[in-house]
Amino acid sequence: NGAGTAQAHESAIKHVTGRAAYIDDIPAPADALHVALGFSPVAHGRLTRLDLEAVKRAPGVVDVVTVVDVPGHTDIGPVFPGDPLFVDDEISYLGQTLFAVAATSYKAARLAVREVVVEIDEQPASLDPVASAEHGDVVRPTHVQERGDWQAALAGAAFTLEGEQFVGGQEHFYLEGQACLVTPTEDEGVVVYTSNQHPSETQKLVAEVLDIPFHAVTVETRRMGGGFGGKETQASPWACIAALVARRTGRAARLRLPRAEDMRATGKRHPFHNRYRLGFDARGVLAGGDITVIGDCGYSPDLSEAVVDRAMFHADNAYSLGEARVTGHRARTHTASNTAFRGFGGPQGMMIIEQAMDDIARHVGEDPLTVRKRNLYRAERDVTHYGQTVDQHPLMSELIERLETSSDYWQRREAITAFNATSPIIKKGLALTPVKFGISFTAKHLNQAGALLHVYTDGSVIINHGGTEMGQGLHTKVCQVVARELGLDTRRVRITATRTDKVPNTSPTAASSGADLNGMAARDAAGQLRERLFDFAAEHYQIDREGMRLEDGELVAFNRRIPWGELVQAAYLGRVSLSAKGFYSTPLIHYDRETGKGRPFYYYAHGAAVSEVEVDTLSGEYRLTRVDILHDVGDSLNPAIDIGQVEGGFIQGMGWLTSEELKWNAKGRLISDGPATYKIPAFGDQPAVFNVELLEGHPNSQASIYRSKAVGEPPFMLGMSVWSALRDALASLADYRVCPRLDTPATPERVLMAAEALRRDG
Ligand code: MTE
Ligand code: MOS
Repeated sequence: NGAGTAQAHESAIKHVTGRAAYIDDIPAPADALHVALGFSPVAHGRLTRLDLEAVKRAPGVVDVVTVVDVPGHTDIGPVFPGDPLFVDDEISYLGQTLFAVAATSYKAARLAVREVVVEIDEQPASLDPVASAEHGDVVRPTHVQERGDWQAALAGAAFTLEGEQFVGGQEHFYLEGQACLVTPTEDEGVVVYTSNQHPSETQKLVAEVLDIPFHAVTVETRRMGGGFGGKETQASPWACIAALVARRTGRAARLRLPRAEDMRATGKRHPFHNRYRLGFDARGVLAGGDITVIGDCGYSPDLSEAVVDRAMFHADNAYSLGEARVTGHRARTHTASNTAFRGFGGPQGMMIIEQAMDDIARHVGEDPLTVRKRNLYRAERDVTHYGQTVDQHPLMSELIERLETSSDYWQRREAITAFNATSPIIKKGLALTPVKFGISFTAKHLNQAGALLHVYTDGSVIINHGGTEMGQGLHTKVCQVVARELGLDTRRVRITATRTDKVPNTSPTAASSGADLNGMAARDAAGQLRERLFDFAAEHYQIDREGMRLEDGELVAFNRRIPWGELVQAAYLGRVSLSAKGFYSTPLIHYDRETGKGRPFYYYAHGAAVSEVEVDTLSGEYRLTRVDILHDVGDSLNPAIDIGQVEGGFIQGMGWLTSEELKWNAKGRLISDGPATYKIPAFGDQPAVFNVELLEGHPNSQASIYRSKAVGEPPFMLGMSVWSALRDALASLADYRVCPRLDTPATPERVLMAAEALRRDG
C-alpha cells in the first residue's frame, strides 16, 4: 500500500471524530495569556492619537504593545518591505493592526481593546485598481512578456476582437482561522505553534522582530484546518505579535482571530481587471494580439509580484496565442494586502483567454469547443509567449477528446439547442473548458526540499519533511513514498509535525509542489538508508548485494529473506546509522525577468471539465445540473486523495466564479465579512451529476516523484466551465450571435443583468 495506491488520509478518522488537534486544541500552560488586537477603523489616513491608558487599566490586562515596543524589525514584508507589524503613523487599510492587548482571558482582552481612544486624520481611500494602474500607483513595477511581432499579427489578421472583464477576488474561508500559540523558552527564544503554510518564514520574521538569532525560534505546524494560500505569508503577523507578548511577559500567548476580524485583516485572492485585443482567422484561430492584466494587490507587495506573474504565465491557458504581448500591472489600493490563493493568479489570468475563446467562437459562428480545440498548443504552435515549449501538448487534445465522448458533449449540445429554441425563459448552457497549469515555484530558489528519516530499533519509521499538511494529503503521500522505498506497510511509517528544528530553511507548502518536492526529498532519504542496509546485509549475512530488494516487510536477496525488524536490529547492533536526511531541487527550470523568457515550469498539469447549467432568465437564478471532469495527475501517488483534490478544487473554483462575492463600501470597509453575507458553496450547490475521473496511462514526461503530477491547484480552474456554461445559456437569448459580458462572481444578479442587456440590445 505504498505510493501509487488509494489510501485514506492519514488523519481521516481523527478529522471526522474531532480528535485531530488544531492550534486551539493544544493545551496551553495554566498562566497563558490571550491576545486581542486593535484594528484601524478607517482605510486610509494618519494616526494622530493612540491613547491606551484605559486599555491598560482594564480588568485582566497584563500587557499592551504597539510599534514602539518592537525590539527588532517593525516591517515584516515577506519578500519586499511594506508590511508594518503595527501602524506607526500611516494607515493603509481598514483592519490594519494598531496595537495588541494581552490579558488573562480571551474575553478580558477583547473587552479591553474597546477602551482605546484613537484619532485619525482620515483621507480618501483609493479602491479602484484600474485608476491606480493608470496613475502608476503600483506596489511593484509593471512586467511585460512578448513574443514575435504582435502588432503585425493584429494588423494582418482577418478579424480582430476586443473585450474586458472584471474578475472578483475570493476569501480563503479556511475552516480554522488564523491562530497560534507561542511559549517562551528558558533562553531568549520562543516555540511557535501555528496554523501555517510557511514555518521557516515565520521563524525568520519572529526572530527579526524579536532581534534574536533564527536558532532561538522553533516553529511547529502539525496541520491546518485549511490554508488555500491564505497561510503562506499571512499567518506570520499573528505569530510575531504573540511572540512579542510571550517574550515581554515570560508567559505563553495565544492569538486567534475571530472570523470577521480574520476576513477584514487578511488579504484575499486578487481581484483582476483584464483586457484583450486579439486577431484571428475565419476559423477562429489566433494570429496574435495583446493582453493586459491588472491585479488589485491591496496596500503592499506581499506576494503580488509573483501572483501577477503567474496570471501572465497563464493568460494563454491551453492555447497558443500566436505573436503576443502580455502586460501585468500590480495596482495599489487601500485594502488588506492580497495574497496567495489556490492557483496563485493563474486562474485570474486564464479567465481572459477563456472569455476571448467564447467571444471569438460567437464571432465566427462556431461552437466554442471547436474554437478552443483549434487553438490548442500543437506541433509548430508549441511555444508559449514566455518562451517555454509545451512538449506534452498531444495529451491535452487526447484528454479533451476522451471527455467529449464520455460526457456526450455533442449529443447534449444538440438537445440543449433544441430545448432552448422552445423554452423562452429557462435556458440551458453547456461548456467544456480546459486547464493547463504550470508546476514549479516561479521564484527558482523555492524549488528545494529536505527530509529527515529515522528508523527505530523496533523497525518503526518516522519521516519528517519541510512540507505542511492543510488537508490536501501531503503527509499521507510522503508516508506512502517512504513505505514504497523501504518495502513497508504504510502503518509502519509515521509522520511528525513540521518543525523548523528538524528540517531547516524550507519553502512554503504552495504552488502545488508539496508532494513533488518533499516526496523526492523523502525518497532520497529512504534510498540512502536502504543502500546502507544493503551494504550492511551483504557483509553481515554474507549474501550477494546484487538483486537485493526491500518488499512486503522483508529484505529479499538471492536465496535469503530477512524480516525488516530483524534487519534493523542487526544493523543497530552492527553500529549502522539508522537515520538519514534527504534533499531535492528541481532541475531544468529558469526564468529571466529582464527578457520575460525562460522555462519557469518543470512540467504542466492538465484537465478539462464539462458543465451544464439551467438558468431562469427572468430571475437570474441558476442550477448546475451536471459536471464531467477528466484530470491529468500523471501516475497518481494516491488516486483517492487526488480525486478528492479534484472535486474540492472544482467546487472551490465554482464558488469563486459564482456565489462568493466580496463587497467593500465606499470607505473601504469589507461588508461581506462572515458566512451570512459571503456565500461559499454548500452541500446543495453540488451538481446533481458529478463524474470525476483521472486520466490514466499518461505518466509525467518529466522524472517527477514516480512520474506523478501535482494536483493541489490545477482542478480549481476547472470551475471556469460553470461560468462559460452560464455565458452559453445567456448567448442563446441572442441566437448565439454574441456572448454577453459576464463579470464574476456571476451571481444571479449579474446573470439577470446580462440577460436583460441581451434582451434589450442583443
Ligand atoms: N486542499 C485542502 N484540503 N486544503 C487546502 O488548504 N490548499 C491548496 C491545495 N489543496 C489546500 C488543498 C493549495 S493553495 C495548494 S498550493 C496545495 O494544496 C498545497 O499542497 P500540495 O503542494 O501538497 O499539493
Ligand atoms: Mo497555494 S495558493 O500555492 O498555497
